[in-house]
Amino acid sequence: MGRIPQNFIDELIARADIVEIIGARVPLKKAGREYKACCPFHDEKTPSFSVSPDKQFYHCFGCGKHGTVLGFLMDYDHMAFPEAVEELATRLGLEIPREITAGSGAARRSDEPLYELMARVAACYAQCLAREARARDYLAERGLAAETIERFAIGYAPNSWNEVLRRFGASDADRQRLADAGLIVERERGPTQGSERHYDRFRDRIMFPIRDARGRVLGFGGRIIDAGEPKYLNSPETVLFHKGRELYGIYETRRSRPSLTRVVVVEGYMDVVRLHQAGVDYALATLGTATTPEHFRRIFRLVPAVVFAFDGDRAGRAAAWRALQQALPEAREGREIRFLFLPEGHDPDTLVGAEGREAFEQRLQGALPLSEYLVRELSEQSELAHADGRARFAESARPLFAKVPEGVYRELLLERLAEVVGLAPARLDELWASGRGPTPAGQAAPAARTAAARAASHSATGAGRGSLVRQAIVRLLRYPAIAGEVSPEERAGLEASEEAGMGLLRELLDNLREQPAQIPAQVIERWTGREGAEWLQKLLEREEVITDAAVAAGELRGALVKLADQAAGRRLEALEAKSRTGSLAPQELEEFHRLIMRLRHRDARGG
Ligand code: CTP
Ligand code: MN
Repeated sequence: MGRIPQNFIDELIARADIVEIIGARVPLKKAGREYKACCPFHDEKTPSFSVSPDKQFYHCFGCGKHGTVLGFLMDYDHMAFPEAVEELATRLGLEIPREITAGSGAARRSDEPLYELMARVAACYAQCLAREARARDYLAERGLAAETIERFAIGYAPNSWNEVLRRFGASDADRQRLADAGLIVERERGPTQGSERHYDRFRDRIMFPIRDARGRVLGFGGRIIDAGEPKYLNSPETVLFHKGRELYGIYETRRSRPSLTRVVVVEGYMDVVRLHQAGVDYALATLGTATTPEHFRRIFRLVPAVVFAFDGDRAGRAAAWRALQQALPEAREGREIRFLFLPEGHDPDTLVGAEGREAFEQRLQGALPLSEYLVRELSEQSELAHADGRARFAESARPLFAKVPEGVYRELLLERLAEVVGLAPARLDELWASGRGPTPAGQAAPAARTAAARAASHSATGAGRGSLVRQAIVRLLRYPAIAGEVSPEERAGLEASEEAGMGLLRELLDNLREQPAQIPAQVIERWTGREGAEWLQKLLEREEVITDAAVAAGELRGALVKLADQAAGRRLEALEAKSRTGSLAPQELEEFHRLIMRLRHRDARGG
């Protein structure tokens, strides 16, 4: 697939409404010309996240996150760049044109070829399963129907060191992509070239493709047949696959249930597959990791209710407690987070196999709400009949309660905890607030301040705070169209300048003169990944009073002329110095006169 043309990205940015896109995900409040909210990227109580419809840009003064509508989709919805483009294009009803490019260097941020490779490898594993009776027998023994195997695209990696390597790694470039995709591993010793350098990561394993919500294969989990170590081998972290983000079964869940109301989160691949087969086709699994904030974000984008199901053993209870701690910052009204503990010796796979869908769903109905699970765990550790036991309960509840964001849910939880402690909610809250330990606000605020301070000091690098270069760039960014008003002479006058940041200013001017842009976000998007991108973003975030485009154009040209004059003055000094020690070449002499004329002209202008 070719590269997405720049002018299409410009058009997307110009047509999309950042307020609408962000507003659909974060509750925005209008404040003057901008919109404000509590930042979705860090915990905070007072809103420092702002969205500017004029700039089509968002920025958090607390954590420093910022970007365009495309950047937001990438960060918030964890989309890759092409995905974000596709999402916007679909919303706007636009077809994405593609450029055919030679060489891969131009395919900036495009992950498409790797997705294709992953799909072909998954298909290969599926074919191998069809040929390997031992693997098929194993799956049959575990109770999987052929239809389920197909639905989850389960496959088999042959018992070979180079099956994938041989089929998909003909050239060095192919092998590089296989390595990037985590499918082959480099030998620690041995040949440094050719196909001997690597070997297949997955050998003689049942292969579970891990797919994203749209069905693209990101990685694999490979289970050993019968016994052995490690039982599961997963893809390493790659550009496509981030273990802490993905949810196994999300594609299958969305496909089988177009309108979902809840999901159940389990621990294992087999659990997901068996639950779906039994009709509990809204089961997902984290991939051997604790539930991360990313997981929660993805889950709550999909449904308002989640039940975590854990094995009844000690490891399962420990995992549940970790999940509770991760869940507290996500708890709020309108969301339901519950915990289900399975009987000792069972996991969802064996349980649903033993008792079927209805019984399992009945258990889901009876799962403990987060608040009850919290109270139950903490009361088990304290003797609530005595005052000191209740005090201990309050002490252990305090740091957990502190993780819950402000809102109705927090108030209700406070009431529940206060009831157990035997105090009025307001009194408990007051005691907690006056306590010595850190409150969440006390923890978050200093960190946020440092981030802001860092962001502010960073913008001082490149060119000084009030420098002419900076003034020029700020205006160009705010009203990119004014680049067209700069005359060729004004542009040429910058060639001799060696001011800090001048390289970026020249590049920006040339880019915008060649391919005009209308709004700041277009410029930011064009610059992503290029040198100076960070600085541009920082400059755009600073609220500057630039009243309109005409004023900005005048100020821009004024700054450019001054910069050119400064450069001319410096060049003149150098030529003068040279003429004192020797003679000037004819063209230097000519330049000398040109510079003198220019500076006379400037004095006449009164600059
Ligand atoms: N896991 C892993 N690596 C391991 C063991 C486990 O990544 N070495 C992850 C897998 O995602 C696995 C989950 O943890 O599915 C749960 O592990 P476990 O309960 O041991 O396995 P089951 O899913 O029950 O697998 P099976 O029923 O096939 O034994
Ligand atoms: Mn199991």
